[in-house]
Amino acid sequence: MTQSGSLAGVADTLLAQSLVHIQRDIDAAFDRLLPVPQDARARLVEAMRYAVIGGGKRVRPLLLTATAELYGVGRESAIRAGAAIEAIHVYSLIHDDLPCMDDDDLRHGKPTVHRAFDEATAVLAGDALHALAFEILADSMVSGDPFTRIELVAALGSASGFQGMAGGQMMDMAAAESVFDLPTVTRLQQLKTGALLGAAVEMGAILGRVPAEGRAHLRGYARDIGLAFQIADDLIDHEGDAASAGKAVGKDAVAGKQTFVSLLGAERAREQARALVDQAISHLSLYGPEANLLRALARYIVERDR
Ligand code: IPE
Ligand code: IPE
Ligand code: MG
Ligand code: MG
Ligand code: MG
Repeated sequence: MTQSGSLAGVADTLLAQSLVHIQRDIDAAFDRLLPVPQDARARLVEAMRYAVIGGGKRVRPLLLTATAELYGVGRESAIRAGAAIEAIHVYSLIHDDLPCMDDDDLRHGKPTVHRAFDEATAVLAGDALHALAFEILADSMVSGDPFTRIELVAALGSASGFQGMAGGQMMDMAAAESVFDLPTVTRLQQLKTGALLGAAVEMGAILGRVPAEGRAHLRGYARDIGLAFQIADDLIDHEGDAASAGKAVGKDAVAGKQTFVSLLGAERAREQARALVDQAISHLSLYGPEANLLRALARYIVERDR
């Protein structure tokens, strides 16, 4: 094996192990956070557990913990903050899959929450996960410093609402009926997907007490991977298969949604995603090998098939 080949192998091993660890730790965190009550709320908590335990790649918690590790943050704090951002992500998926939005039957390789339970339970499970996220961040177990906790709440709040994910989802709904140009699609994707991925990196830096003026390179990295991530998601929809994706594919074209793939074609979209990843990695040049996980994660984000 060439030297660069073996270095790539080391990065793959680091990434593979880190994905296994984060999946295990986030599952354990949700298992502790969500005991099933012995009354009529049981169905709600069972639906929440069904949605958050197992399944997802946990890219947002891994981005958060990998960033926090650069600044020596303890794993327990980072995992709690990671569970908070994953709770928002999973709530957004439960609502995204509802009949009034994308109307999907498959998520994480199993029936969507409204299919396995019912629509009202799915709406409430999303609502309750949204609330849980901020409850986790307000708890002193995340950080003993109340200013740090407030900063975490503010970062996740703005990335989730109209200035972030929910705003992007609104634009995405409009994308089926409108003609959007490339700058508008870019804005849509930055809000819908980029905002939460950016918040993951930002929250890692907040836990690491990196002052706001010292976060520009991390924000540059997050912005580039955010866009690359959504291009990869659109490529999976365009040419992936449901068995490995764990969700239905081929839906964006049927819905008439404009994406990078519909505007640029698959090949140019893929080139664009790869160029964004190179650019993302260049933002990490001030770090040595300690940032190798963030570098490997950036590559994984575009090369994944699920
Ligand atoms: C899918 O996100 C929805 C988008 C924001 C594009 P992920 O690919 O991170 O979903 P998981 O890993 O299945 O949870
Ligand atoms: C969903 O985007 C993004 C959010 C839930 C914020 P998509 O609708 O493209 O995600 P998938 O393809 O269903 O995972
Ligand atoms: Mg959608
Ligand atoms: Mg969808
Ligand atoms: Mg999609």
